[in-house]
Amino acid sequence: MRHEALSEARLGFGCLRPGDQNNSGRRAVACKEEIWMIALWGQVILPLVEAVDGKHVLEIGAEFGLSTQALVNFARRVDGHVHCIDPAPIFDVEEFEAQYGGRLSFYKDTSLNAIPKIPEVDVVLVDGDHNWYTVYHELKLIEAHSDHDALKLPLIFVHDTAWPYGRRDLYYDPASIPEEFRHPYAMQGMGRQKRELMPEGGINADMNNALVEGGERNGVLTAVEDYIRESSLDFEFLNLPLYFGLGILISRERLDSNPALAAEMQKLHGMMQGEKLITITEKLRMNLTGIVQRMQREQAASQARVEELERELAQLRGG
Ligand SMILES: C[S@@+](CC[C@H](N)C(=O)[O-])C[C@H]1O[C@@H](n2cnc3c(N)ncnc32)[C@H](O)[C@@H]1O
Repeated sequence: MRHEALSEARLGFGCLRPGDQNNSGRRAVACKEEIWMIALWGQVILPLVEAVDGKHVLEIGAEFGLSTQALVNFARRVDGHVHCIDPAPIFDVEEFEAQYGGRLSFYKDTSLNAIPKIPEVDVVLVDGDHNWYTVYHELKLIEAHSDHDALKLPLIFVHDTAWPYGRRDLYYDPASIPEEFRHPYAMQGMGRQKRELMPEGGINADMNNALVEGGERNGVLTAVEDYIRESSLDFEFLNLPLYFGLGILISRERLDSNPALAAEMQKLHGMMQGEKLITITEKLRMNLTGIVQRMQREQAASQARVEELERELAQLRGG
């Protein structure tokens, strides 16, 4: 994606067009910036990043580069650096790197391959392949990379800890997941309150979703919980039911030794008092997302039909 288009996209009218390819080969049908992790940047992520004086950030999963752009702008401001991992980004990485000279290191690889190559960071944003195997091992690698030292362990944000991927795996590249950890899956959509995939429609029908929600070793939140239970470190884990779910993971030692961080976390706990309200808001928003995605599919189908008719017309005229 051209870089100017990124700022347009943030305003809501410069998104990928139907027909632009994304990494999994599926067709990008629309503008999605309103549902990305970066929507939580100002209110939730930034205050915590500032509280830990986070300058060096690792982003796992960049997609269109919207969050990457915000992170690099932040790095410029604080004289920091962003390491970004994505095996299949949908923007021109070289152009991006040239524009943000020196502030961004991009690793066109999977997280499990790349994490060990990255220098120490203060903050990690996990938003790559949303399945148990990947997230569980990402967290383990991050901990090992910090020498299992609670004070060195970065502040970790994990996106997609709520519905639909909190308790259900998604596979960007199913072949990359060892068979024993891969649930049966299909490219079908998901509906609220439905453990099985929908025969038609539903959310993210163009993604490889596990056939059944729930059970062992299934989903992002399950991965975080399993990791926490098995780790020798103590954690504070706050799971905000906002925008597909944002989990905040901090080692207890780090939290106890940083009053500014503790105060920010306290504010977020206060926000959770209104959890019921937030949950209702999220349900409404997901309903809207379903409607928007259905309209996008219909629009893409109409566009394809128009192009087909135009070709036929051109042939008739030519003949
Ligand atoms: C939900 S998108 C990320 C969105 C981005 N964080 C934002 O808020 O704008 C997920 C991205 O993760 C990437 N991805 C898939 N598998 C991955 C893996 N194993 N390691 C790192 N990234 C992965 C995909 O290519 C995709 O671009």
